[in-house]
Amino acid sequence: AIERTLSIIKPDATKRNLTGKINAKFEDAGLRIVAQKRIQLTVDQAGQFYAVHKERPFFGELTEFMASGPVVVQVLEGEGAVLKNREVMGATNPADAAPGTVRAEFAESVGENSVHGSDAPETAAEEIAFFFSGLELVG
Ligand code: CMP
Repeated sequence: AIERTLSIIKPDATKRNLTGKINAKFEDAGLRIVAQKRIQLTVDQAGQFYAVHKERPFFGELTEFMASGPVVVQVLEGEGAVLKNREVMGATNPADAAPGTVRAEFAESVGENSVHGSDAPETAAEEIAFFFSGLELVG
């Protein structure tokens, strides 16, 4: 089925001017960027987005990192987009990421891992609504 998923290019990647190279990997995999904006999150906003991780030991590190520089939030659309995006990203820990994936090529550590992608269609809908209104999605 045609799906949409929420993707974030994280501060470690925007700082190194990797937005275009990462977008090329998404587009080459058949994912269409149907919405995109570059924003600066506050620690509070990052905490709202990652609320599901509130009790994790790395929550403070994660939210401060996500507020440490610009992020590019985007909606990717395509056949099986949630899983396809996760394949293009590679494993959370770059040490485990398959060759050619975004994280294998660009991520610096498990925390500074260049990209976020929704983990299921239901969370994708919630995460898209966190950043975008329906009018901002142009297929
Ligand atoms: P992401 O897909 O954005 O979802 C939650 C994030 O938490 C994850 O990617 C990692 O970047 C981050 N994360 C997971 N484990 C750790 C860890 N041990 N230390 C720091 N950050 C982590």
